Amino acid sequence: MQGFALRLSFLIIFIFYFLALRLAAGTTAAPRPYNATDLLLLNWGAASKITSDEGRDWDTDNHYMQFMPTNTAAISFQATAEQGPSVPRVPFTTARVFTSQLTYSFRVSPGHKFLRLYFYPAQYSAAGAGGGYNQADFLFSVTANHYVLLKNFSAFVTASASPSNDPTVKKEFIVDVDDKRQLNLTFSPSPNAYAFVNGIEIVSIPSDLYFRGDNYPIKLVGQASESYFSIDNSTTSLETLYRLNVGGNHLGPTDDTGMFREWSDDKDYVVYRENQTPNLAVPVYYSTETPAYTAPNVVYTSARTMDDHNNNSNGLFWDFPVDAGFTYLFRFYFCEFQREVNNTNQRVFSIEVNNSTAEEQFDVIEQSGDTEVPIMRDYVILVPDPDTHRSKQMVSLSLRPNMEGKPMYRNTILNGLEIFKLNDSTGSLAVPNPLQIPATQPGLLPEKKGRKGLRCGLPPPCTPERPSFPLLAKGGGDSKAANNLDEDDGGAFTTSEDPAKMFRTKSSVTATSTSDDSLRGQSHTIFSELSNQLGR
Ligand SMILES: *[C@@H]1O[C@H](CO)[C@@H](O)[C@H](O)[C@H]1NC(C)=O
Ligand SMILES: *[C@@H]1O[C@H](CO)[C@@H](O)[C@H](O)[C@H]1NC(C)=O
Ligand SMILES: *[C@@H]1O[C@H](CO)[C@@H](O)[C@H](O)[C@H]1NC(C)=O
Ligand SMILES: *[C@@H]1O[C@H](CO)[C@@H](O)[C@H](O)[C@H]1NC(C)=O
Ligand SMILES: *[C@@H]1O[C@H](CO)[C@@H](O)[C@H](O)[C@H]1NC(C)=O
Ligand SMILES: *[C@@H]1O[C@H](CO)[C@@H](O)[C@H](O)[C@H]1NC(C)=O
Ligand SMILES: *[C@@H]1O[C@H](CO)[C@@H](O)[C@H](O)[C@H]1NC(C)=O
Repeated sequence: MQGFALRLSFLIIFIFYFLALRLAAGTTAAPRPYNATDLLLLNWGAASKITSDEGRDWDTDNHYMQFMPTNTAAISFQATAEQGPSVPRVPFTTARVFTSQLTYSFRVSPGHKFLRLYFYPAQYSAAGAGGGYNQADFLFSVTANHYVLLKNFSAFVTASASPSNDPTVKKEFIVDVDDKRQLNLTFSPSPNAYAFVNGIEIVSIPSDLYFRGDNYPIKLVGQASESYFSIDNSTTSLETLYRLNVGGNHLGPTDDTGMFREWSDDKDYVVYRENQTPNLAVPVYYSTETPAYTAPNVVYTSARTMDDHNNNSNGLFWDFPVDAGFTYLFRFYFCEFQREVNNTNQRVFSIEVNNSTAEEQFDVIEQSGDTEVPIMRDYVILVPDPDTHRSKQMVSLSLRPNMEGKPMYRNTILNGLEIFKLNDSTGSLAVPNPLQIPATQPGLLPEKKGRKGLRCGLPPPCTPERPSFPLLAKGGGDSKAANNLDEDDGGAFTTSEDPAKMFRTKSSVTATSTSDDSLRGQSHTIFSELSNQLGR
């Protein structure tokens, strides 16, 4: 009898264990939460399809001749890199080198796409070209549909000036594709220079992930009174500057939810590393507001929190170098997953971007409704460019406990963070190359020394040229912003003369007040519609 009871309880335990496994599998394991409708991985100059070390299949551009102009063979060459040992073979061993402007017209579905460009500035040999190319020979511009992504770009100078030791440059953009289903990608060499690319990746994005519409108003931080920013989903491109699994580990493309995003750890940006980084294998309860594809599970189940044994600490702080003269979108990922914090008014904190308050009393559980329920919050800041050099500026992020309502703990939490740059009023995301560091030997990147941080001095003065694409004024005349843009600028590219004009993107600033000095005189459009809709 006793034996039976024992066996029964074993059986019950086994069933519970099995159920728990099933439940856990439902929230944490494959299949991927998002299946991209468009997924193109092109390894330029490669002879055939190759699988990368991380297990992704890269195809050769030879299989996509239908996207290429007929004169491709006359103005471009396949080239092979003299490869450093630390550089992954795929997609960096081979490249396509362009001697004059060339446009690829990719056919994809409508909607937003990640466009990832991979560059390895090295010595290249090209059989067809009868010779080789030095990494300093490459200077070029890249446009995607009506956006300028890179202008007179030197991958060599960019990699040399980067605080990391990575000799490759990866750029990630978000661009929209309309019903014409075309993504036109143009490479234009600067005078007496060449263009090149090693890899191109195009991946579709769920339509409501980064452009969430007016139901999710985006607070404009740094204004005297509450102001909101509306991002027009068909006239705005983004460049990813940072994507962090805060307090957690680096996540590679295959760890993502199906968009192949890379999530870095935050160690290079956090100010006091000694703060705590809990990481628990708890379930995450996704919702229609925050679906499972928003971020990998582990982003939500790891975080940086304050070390509550250290009374000297008064918050969590990060610093991020950004380019002056652009608008930035900050996307925060939160999830209360620590057992001790299981109700409202337990962990309450302020969020400040560059000392301007985004939230005074932020309580994750109050916002999400429960523990282990993730949420995302977006904020926009304008980074002025007083000297019009588009130089690097530091933007600080601070989360400090707010004890006013007597919460149970004196603590703060952040699980994930993304920072995107928005295109300026001319449709451009480009900045001048960082100040050049002379190479000691051809074929070798200059040695990096010192601490991570800003390394670029004053960039060369901006010498704007008239862009070869129409100014961003589409949108059916639905907004005064677009019309004013045309009239005032007369179609001219006046960015560097008038920093105030930089913020006149079609993505209009909506403000309930203009009393703030930092925005006075900037001819952004003030809407009252959104404020009315919001009942503010
Ligand atoms: C994605 O595709 C896989 C394999 O076809 C499937 O198992 C999975 O359920 C799909 N996921 C979504 C969110 O559609
Ligand atoms: C932009 O938003 C509108 C309305 O939400 C939607 O109909 C349209 O498809 C979106 N466009 C893109 C490129 O996502
Ligand atoms: C792409 O380029 C083709 C050929 O120049 C042009 O007809 C088309 O309008 C372009 N599409 C977009 C979305 O810019
Ligand atoms: C909920 O939080 C309180 C306060 O931190 C703690 O005492 C309690 O054990 C927690 N309850 C559970 C079920 O974890
Ligand atoms: C932010 O405020 C702190 C003190 O409140 C000050 O020490 C710091 O210099 C300020 N930072 C900026 C960027 O203004
Ligand atoms: C940060 O704040 C300081 C002083 O409040 C200001 O001078 C600086 O321009 C701001 N930086 C950015 C990047 O907005
Ligand atoms: C292009 O970049 C190179 C390298 O940084 C620089 O020397 C040159 O002045 C730039 N040209 C223009 C027109 O900005």
